[in-house]
Amino acid sequence: MTMKKSSKKRDSKFGFDSFNPLENKTVLLGISGGIAAYKACDIASMLRHAGADVHAVLTPNAKEFITPLSLTTITRNQAHCEQYGAQANWRPEHIDLAKKADLILIAPATADLIAKLAAGICDDLLTTMVLASPAKVMIAPAMNPVMLQHPATKHNLSILENRYRYDVIPPEYGEVACGDWGTGKMASVDTIIAAVAARLLAHLTLSTKRLLVTAGGTREPIDPVRFIGNRSSGKMGIAMADAAHGRGADVTLVSTVDVERAYPVIVVETAQEMQDAVESEFDGCDALVMTAAVADFRPLTTSNHKIKKTDSEDLVLELTKNPDIIDLLGRVKRKDQVIIGFAAESEALLSNATQKLKRKNLDVIVGNDISVPDIGFGSDDNAVIILNSDGAKESLPRMPKRAIAEHLCDLLAERFQAIEKTPVH
Ligand code: CTP
Repeated sequence: MTMKKSSKKRDSKFGFDSFNPLENKTVLLGISGGIAAYKACDIASMLRHAGADVHAVLTPNAKEFITPLSLTTITRNQAHCEQYGAQANWRPEHIDLAKKADLILIAPATADLIAKLAAGICDDLLTTMVLASPAKVMIAPAMNPVMLQHPATKHNLSILENRYRYDVIPPEYGEVACGDWGTGKMASVDTIIAAVAARLLAHLTLSTKRLLVTAGGTREPIDPVRFIGNRSSGKMGIAMADAAHGRGADVTLVSTVDVERAYPVIVVETAQEMQDAVESEFDGCDALVMTAAVADFRPLTTSNHKIKKTDSEDLVLELTKNPDIIDLLGRVKRKDQVIIGFAAESEALLSNATQKLKRKNLDVIVGNDISVPDIGFGSDDNAVIILNSDGAKESLPRMPKRAIAEHLCDLLAERFQAIEKTPVH
């Protein structure tokens, strides 16, 4: 292998050092037929400049918007379009390419293409290559806002999001080609490149590690109909479990949200059920990541029958404290176990998170300010601070929860490396 010469000159536009961070990575760039296809040239160019070996695959409709020749010239590799045709070799070249790709990026991904991926249809070269490849697939949807909100598209996207092989780079708000405004515009080229780079550079493995992750908000029943709950969607915990699974960890997810995954998911409802599940798994795990929003109080009694409003004018609920799961486990954790807690605060984020880190004997706490609109609860994105028990602090700007999860996986991998190097007396 010939190493590319590295000069440390910084490429100011893309933020990459010019020593090719994506060197040795093969990216298959799928392009489907939408107006955002014109941005695929920029994406291909930036990936190539970052060192990646880029191979473009266009759907027949993509050729209406952009030419294979442009992509061939920019990637310096023959762009592929035809599923059938003359081939130099007995083995179809594109199948080899599909097998060796480190990552498939589809930008733009139209509603039609997303539907095909969700259903496993492979009626053109790109969809066939996706099905023939074991690689991670990142898709950057781009379409009219009404099409994005259509129940069929939402359903198809949720199918892909629930398959751990797929990452969706969310579309943005803005003016789309037809002049409408709304969410549907493809994520910016910079956002797409950052997501791809984060995925390809997430090299620290968690194989051999057992991770216990909690997700969602507990529900404390008042009667058979009502409960005390909270706004947690479970997205952060599920992203964390998916990311760790992707790094080879043996993951168990304890969740109030039922999701189908390739790893075990224990579905619970109340804080006490979550406590039972977490306590029974904790001893065998190397790390506990407690993203769940656990109700601090539950009704002292639960009515077996629906409480009728005709019963009385006022209803007084007596509440009793729930166990603090992470606090209890923080007291008994072994030196080789790592516990990460979360703190969603509406004020004094830094001091509240610092206090919780110490009080609960955590190794790491991830704090976020819930007063910031559009991020946090229910959102796909968050912006967080990360405080370590050794005093290290960092803050991550707004980014997808999956990107935060990947960062936490790196942090865990580094912690485990440090634990393994610590002499046992
Ligand atoms: N936690 C827990 N059990 C509880 C409450 C919280 O394990 N009964 C965990 C959460 O999963 C989170 C961390 O503790 O990782 C911090 O949760 P948070 O609700 O922010 O802290 P509390 O201690 O409940 O403090 P407060 O609600 O008063 O801010």
